[in-house]
Amino acid sequence: MRIGVLCSGGDSPGMNAAIRGATLRGVDVHGFEMVGFIDGWRGFHDGEMVPLDRPAVRGLSGVGGVFLGTSRVPPFAGGRGEADLTEFRVRMAEYGIDAFMLIGGNGTQTVASILDEAGVPVVGLPKTIDNDLSGTDYTFGFDTAVSIASEAIDRLRTTGDSHRRCMVLEVMGRDAGWIALHAGMAGGAQAILLPEFPESLEQGCDWVTSGRDRGRSSMVVVAEGFKLAGSDQAVTREGLDGFGRPRLGGVAEVLAPLIEEHTGIEARATVLGHVQRGGAPTAFDRVLATRTGIAAADAALAGQWGTLAGLRGDRIEMVPLAEAVGRLKTVPEYRYAEVRLNFG
Ligand code: F6P
Repeated sequence: MRIGVLCSGGDSPGMNAAIRGATLRGVDVHGFEMVGFIDGWRGFHDGEMVPLDRPAVRGLSGVGGVFLGTSRVPPFAGGRGEADLTEFRVRMAEYGIDAFMLIGGNGTQTVASILDEAGVPVVGLPKTIDNDLSGTDYTFGFDTAVSIASEAIDRLRTTGDSHRRCMVLEVMGRDAGWIALHAGMAGGAQAILLPEFPESLEQGCDWVTSGRDRGRSSMVVVAEGFKLAGSDQAVTREGLDGFGRPRLGGVAEVLAPLIEEHTGIEARATVLGHVQRGGAPTAFDRVLATRTGIAAADAALAGQWGTLAGLRGDRIEMVPLAEAVGRLKTVPEYRYAEVRLNFG
């Protein structure tokens, strides 16, 4: 069997480890032939691919980014029509590809399920720093992003305390606030603002002021997709991303001056941005990604197509793609309530 491996969407620490795990198990143990497409579907369209074998993945477990490259180029020229799939199958035959391993988040796994429905053999490997994919407890990359964001909070704390300022840190999280929640809890933030739970400016300022009244400089952690109560729009930057969605970012820069104006406490904004996606994965993400790759290769051998290698407790289980796509895994009410009681 010849398997095409492909990454799509934003990169996520651990992608290299996942490809390594899948290759070591798939090629060395199961005897598959494997190739990796360069820059996701762009490489598939242009016929740009590299053979995957043991030497090709040597030493990659701890390396950030993804050596194959990734992009948000779509797999089909114009949507989901039969003509597109015919064209898709022509390409598969041309490259001799029998099956795919697709490494990606929601968008990518939705494509995986479309291909599965069309009879293309595919297994999904879930990744995203946002951790918003259903069908898995955690996605690889999330733990690394949380570690980086927590370290940023620790660093912002000392300068914020020195100047008695309110520090507002913006982290990624378009629809789900997992990074903000976990990093904010780890750093003991005075307020954590998530896309799932709008809060009013007055409430946010109360938390900041009550922190100050206890002699504390406030740390506010905000996910990029957070909306103030009463607003239905997240703060966006110019332009659209590769999936045609507005580019988010800048909510901290909007909130900090508002907090300063309403509380009289000097405030500073930091947008962590792509720092939280870069660099070496944590040990947790390396292990999770490697196990995900191994499980995907085993699933290919067993013909468990149309599934996603999801973490369930301590086990990697092959979850039907239909269970993973179509609904985001957002922060549940009880997780927010648990931490909100101690804000301020
Ligand atoms: O990977 C998902 C994500 O981290 C979102 O939280 C964020 O909006 C997006 O990536 C930004 O990625 P890019 O700048 O690569 O489009």
